[in-house]
Amino acid sequence: MKITVIGAGYVGLVTAACFADLGNEVLCVEKVSSKLEKLCRGISPIYEPGLSEMLQRNIKEGRIQFTDRIEEGVRFSDVIFLCVGTPQGEDGKADLSQVEEASRQIAQNMTDYKLIIEKSTVPVNTHQWVKKTVKRYIKDKSIDFDVASNPEFLREGSAIYDFMNPDRIVVGVESERARKIMEELYRPFTEKGFPLLITTPAAAELIKHASNSFLAMKISYINMIADLCEKVGADINEVADGMGYDKRIGRDFLNAGIGYGGSCFPKDVQAFIKIAEDHGLDFGLLKETEKINRSRRRKFLDRIEDVLWISKDKNIAVWGLAFKPNTDDIREAPSIDIVRELDRLGANLRLYDPKAMENFRYLFPEKENISYVEDMYDALKDADALLIITEWDQFKNADLDRVKQLMRLPIVIDGRNVYDPKMMKEKGFEYYSIGR
Ligand code: UDX
Repeated sequence: MKITVIGAGYVGLVTAACFADLGNEVLCVEKVSSKLEKLCRGISPIYEPGLSEMLQRNIKEGRIQFTDRIEEGVRFSDVIFLCVGTPQGEDGKADLSQVEEASRQIAQNMTDYKLIIEKSTVPVNTHQWVKKTVKRYIKDKSIDFDVASNPEFLREGSAIYDFMNPDRIVVGVESERARKIMEELYRPFTEKGFPLLITTPAAAELIKHASNSFLAMKISYINMIADLCEKVGADINEVADGMGYDKRIGRDFLNAGIGYGGSCFPKDVQAFIKIAEDHGLDFGLLKETEKINRSRRRKFLDRIEDVLWISKDKNIAVWGLAFKPNTDDIREAPSIDIVRELDRLGANLRLYDPKAMENFRYLFPEKENISYVEDMYDALKDADALLIITEWDQFKNADLDRVKQLMRLPIVIDGRNVYDPKMMKEKGFEYYSIGR
């Protein structure tokens, strides 16, 4: 099939590359020239395992192309994925101006039938607005079109795997014609037995927000249980394992720590609270989820103070800046609040992350008390404490004897429960983790 993808952000780029890899002919529209220039050379503007290789392969075989001209995208195919950004507005609501702009531009350039598919996360009933906008701006009112919702559930760091191996594919459609196109598009998946769920567009839009909010709630829930574990002397991992064996609960997303970050959960929870509010509902459960998540960062800083007393002039090594492992993304990362506060307190910070240092440098340029190191062990020389903020595998596999030898004091404050407390004690560390 021929497919147009508008917007080469995380969702758009992965969607475009994966559909091309499945044998479709894809044209991806990206208006930011610096991004476009990289994409045309097969370089992914984001770090995502396997993405650059996939892009290069499909560019070479002629299955994927890039342009900054939306009219070209509209001409190219009848199937148009909207993957533009829906950032958080000042009031917490999603800012849908890019969705509106793209809908208008599609309408102004359409000369025959189009299926417009929302893939970005949007508030419920956005499809109604897209429909209304296209109807208003279309020149020839006799041209037929459909709007569908097909939310994406991929995680950063395993985006390609998630796209190719979905737990479910959700398609919200209103017409038979749109349903047939979507079924055809996803046939390679349904043939392999991946479930395809056909719903109304409103239900599909809701499924995305409801799923992400539920997962965020699960994280805040386990973080509260972790606090209780600390009070009573239980181990949160034992509790989470015990809960997780219940199939109705499941072990996933029950890892206690310094809370969730990233481009999705914080934004989606906020937006969902606002969506409920717009419909006259008070989603107190989600407000609490958010409040607990915010308090995790403060709690981690309080822990540092409890252990170090005064942070001023202390040498503090920080391992992990990305909001989670296997990404260079630092959006809403706990590391930002933690580094900002420790900098304010006058600590000497030596920062390390396998992928996110370049992005972090924009926010915190190197200065007298902030430096970046290329080798994780270099952060430890004469350190009074090591903080672990992201659970990268290389930290899990660190040579702890070497760690201890390099540090001035063997103090490790771990926000992600990377090590076994018993083993750390045996090795002679003063080790603090979450809920254990
Ligand atoms: C999420 C959803 O998983 C995905 O389906 C959706 O499409 C986009 O949002 P992502 O933001 O890439 O994906 O990250 P995810 O792996 O879900 O983690 C989100 C945050 O929760 C991270 O900060 C992570 O550290 C935190 N987390 C996750 C926990 O604190 N504990 C857990 O048990 C799981």
